[in-house]
Formats: sequence, structure tokens, C-alpha cells
Amino acid sequence: MVDNAPGGQVGIAQIGVTGLAVMGRNLARNFARSGFTVAVHNRSFAKTQSLVADHGDEGTFVPSESLADFVASLERPRKVVIMVKAGGPTDAVIDELVPLLEPGDIVVDAGNAHFPDTIRRENALRAHGLHFVGSGVSGGEEGALLGPSIMPGGTRESYESLGPILEKIAAKVDGVPCCTYVGPDGAGHFVKMVHNGIEYADMQLIAEAYDLLKQGLGASAAEIGEIFAQWNTGDLESFLIEITADVLQHVDAATGSAFVDVVLDQAEQKGTGRWTVQNGLDLGVPITGIAEATFARALSGGVAQREAARSTLVADTAPWAVEDRDAFVEDVRLALYASKVVAYSQGFDQIAAASAEFGWDIDRGAMARIWRGGCIIRARFLNRITEAYERDAHLPLLLADEYFTQAVGAGVAAWRRIVAGAALHGVPTPAFSSSLAYYDGVRAERLPAALIQAQRDFFGAHTYRRTDRDGSFHTLWSGDRTEQDA
Ligand code: 6PG
Repeated sequence: MVDNAPGGQVGIAQIGVTGLAVMGRNLARNFARSGFTVAVHNRSFAKTQSLVADHGDEGTFVPSESLADFVASLERPRKVVIMVKAGGPTDAVIDELVPLLEPGDIVVDAGNAHFPDTIRRENALRAHGLHFVGSGVSGGEEGALLGPSIMPGGTRESYESLGPILEKIAAKVDGVPCCTYVGPDGAGHFVKMVHNGIEYADMQLIAEAYDLLKQGLGASAAEIGEIFAQWNTGDLESFLIEITADVLQHVDAATGSAFVDVVLDQAEQKGTGRWTVQNGLDLGVPITGIAEATFARALSGGVAQREAARSTLVADTAPWAVEDRDAFVEDVRLALYASKVVAYSQGFDQIAAASAEFGWDIDRGAMARIWRGGCIIRARFLNRITEAYERDAHLPLLLADEYFTQAVGAGVAAWRRIVAGAALHGVPTPAFSSSLAYYDGVRAERLPAALIQAQRDFFGAHTYRRTDRDGSFHTLWSGDRTEQDA
């Protein structure tokens, strides 16, 4: 059933979507297909009309040309989903929307907003008695239509009426919706940001695994695609491994070459990975996998630097001639799995740190649960993360959970062989190597940080603590070298 009359009917739609580019359009269709009456609006009415013309038979749409009519067509408390570009465009829509709303209404920003913006907006709308819900939505165009993973923040009260609608359109795994209340104000967008950071790390690790197989075995893209397809039947099973197998086996129609071989090797980004790294620095959480992945994209795009280095920097390596193909493939698989666990462990540490810093009380096990389906990092192994947090909700380190201790431990020797081999043969593996360095760092009995503290005290009287008694101390380095209480 379609209500095609511009202006719609007063107060009949259960949810509204403004901003009907691909993501908004698909979300609106998902609401309609799930049985909700959906108010739809776009700055240019032609897009609204084309949505209704093309997909009006999928459910009940109430199109409006003006934002005022759109708002009037919603049931109270109104629920408006904004799906426009993050930043200025989101603020512009909010400014136009707020005077048309009434206390108790709910505004959902489903774009990739930066969480400090969400905190600011939530605060501003609260002053008007409105609920502002910054919600992460992952899964790209297809996810938006068929079932995304949804990470809503805002007030718990708003989730009571909004949650059931979002849960209905979300992806389901074993009948469980990939949507849950994340936490107050910016918590939803924060978790989506970390999701994207982990996405960067996961993609970089997969890319390094591909490069290792290519350089170590001299294998073709199609052959490596088969290896990834095989890996997708085991512990590594995930959306990203699945699409990697697919991409690697794709042949470019114009040249007949493997598609991946004709794509320019300069990775771009829209900024969510960078935000994650910046926040990791702010919170002092070593998210080295995500950081290396983000910097690897930057390095790949540094055309002038690569040009200057390519034929100039000495490699001093011998070609990699792997003798036991199957053993090497298995080593790469184990190293990939271990590095991946490190990246996720670091991301969950970042969520824990932000949750403490902002008072969000985020349930990490629940986050792993809603990432099992719908989103870009969906993977079989997220079940293991949920189980780990079920065993201990306050787990200080995911890597130290009994399952992961064993799973990673079983692959450590392989991981070392791969990282060492890559270094010896000049294959850049920043994410594999930094993950192993993190693993060795976090498990070390004693770190050289003691020397750093001594150096800091030497040149700046920054003080140090001792292993044998409490307190802070300073040594008179340029005097008689006696120690003082600081
Ligand atoms: C998702 C994706 C989505 C988008 C990335 C791409 O969860 O659906 O993460 O948000 O594809 O932001 O990011 P880059 O353009 O920065 O790689």
C-alpha cells in the first residue's frame, strides 16, 4: 500500500527517514518491507518520488515534499532518522528539524558521525526536551536494505520505543537481532567508529596475508583466492575473507588480467580509521593494529615518497623461495588469526577505556554479539568474543581469555616464522609485525620502560617509582646522585 499524496496523512507513519541517497533509501525500504509505515523526505523531492515510484509496492511509504509535512505525517513520539553526510549537512538538517518537533520526539542520526559531535548534539537537543540518538549503522548499501548491524546511543528511554523498530530491521544471527542499546549520548557512534577501526585492521591484515602468499609462493591472484575460500570454511570465516576470495578470483573484462592486478595500489579512506587512532592516542590505548592499518593506507598514497624510495632504498634481500607450500599457507593462516585477535582485543580495550572515561557502561560482549551479522566485520569468531565476556564481563584483556590464550598460543611459532620471513625477504607486514610486537610486549615479565623512566628523571627530573617500595623518587643526577623522595 502506498500513500502517494504529497504531504502525506497526518500522524500515520511510525518512523521517518530524511536523506534518501543510497543508504537512506535502502533503510527506508527496509522499514517498509518490515511492515512499518515510513515517512520519507529528501531535500530534492524528485528522489522521494522516485523511491515511491520504484519501490512503493514493498510497503507503505508516506512521501512529503516539505520537512514540515514530513514531520506532521509522523505518529507521536515522532521518530526521525537522518541519513545525510556527516558534519555540516547533519547540523543543517537538525537545525531545520528541531523547531518542528515536540518534547519527547526522537531524532536518530544514522550517519558516520564523529562521536564528539554526537555528544554535542545530544546535549543541545536535550535542552529542547528531544531525544537525540547517534546510531552506528554498518553493512553498506546491502546491509541497510537487507539487515544492518545497528549501534544506537542516546537515552535508554528513547530505546524503549525506538529499539523494537530497529531490532526488527536489523540483521539476525540465530534469531538474535544485531542491534542493542549501546549507551548514553555518543556511545553508539563511538562503537561504530571502533568497528570501522577494526575494519581497517582486518582489511590490512588480509591484504598482508595476500601479499605474503603472493611473494612467498609466487601464487596468482586466483590461486590465492582459492586459499582464502578454503580459509573461509574454518575459524577465519567472515564477510571480509569471503569477499577477498571473490575479489581475487575476479578477472578484469578489459584486459583479461586478474582484477586486483589492474587496481592502483593506493588505499583511500573517509576518516573513521583516523578518528579511531586519534582517540586511541587521547585515551592512551595502544591500538597498534588499527594505527598501522591507517598509516599503511597513508603510506600507499604517498606517491612522491614511494617514487623517491622505489629504486633508491637498498633491499639486500634474496627472493623468497618457500619449499613446503602447504606448511607456509598454514603458517600465514595462523599468523593472520593471531594478528586478528590482537586487533580485536585492542579495539575492545579502547571501548572499555572510553566507556570508563565517558561513563557509558558499555557491555563489550553485547557489542561482539551485534557485530556477528549485518556489519562489515561480521565473523564467526565474534561468538568467541561474546563467550569470553560472558565468562568475565570485566576481562582486562581479551587475549588473556582462556579460549584466545590457547587459540593464539597454538599459532605463535607460525606467527614468528612469518614475521621473521617477511623481514628477511623485505615484504612489508606492518600489521602482522606490530601485532606480534604488541603480543610480546603485553606478555613481557619486564619491559625496558624502566630505562625510559630513568632517562626522563635524568634529563627532566620527571621522577620514577621503585619496584621495592611505594612513593615517587628523584635522583640528583648532576649532583651527588643521592635519591630523594619526590
Ligand atoms: C560499514 C562501513 C562503512 C564504510 C566505511 C568505509 O560499517 O558499513 O564501515 O561505514 O564502508 O566507512 O570507510 P573508508 O572509506 O574510510 O574505508
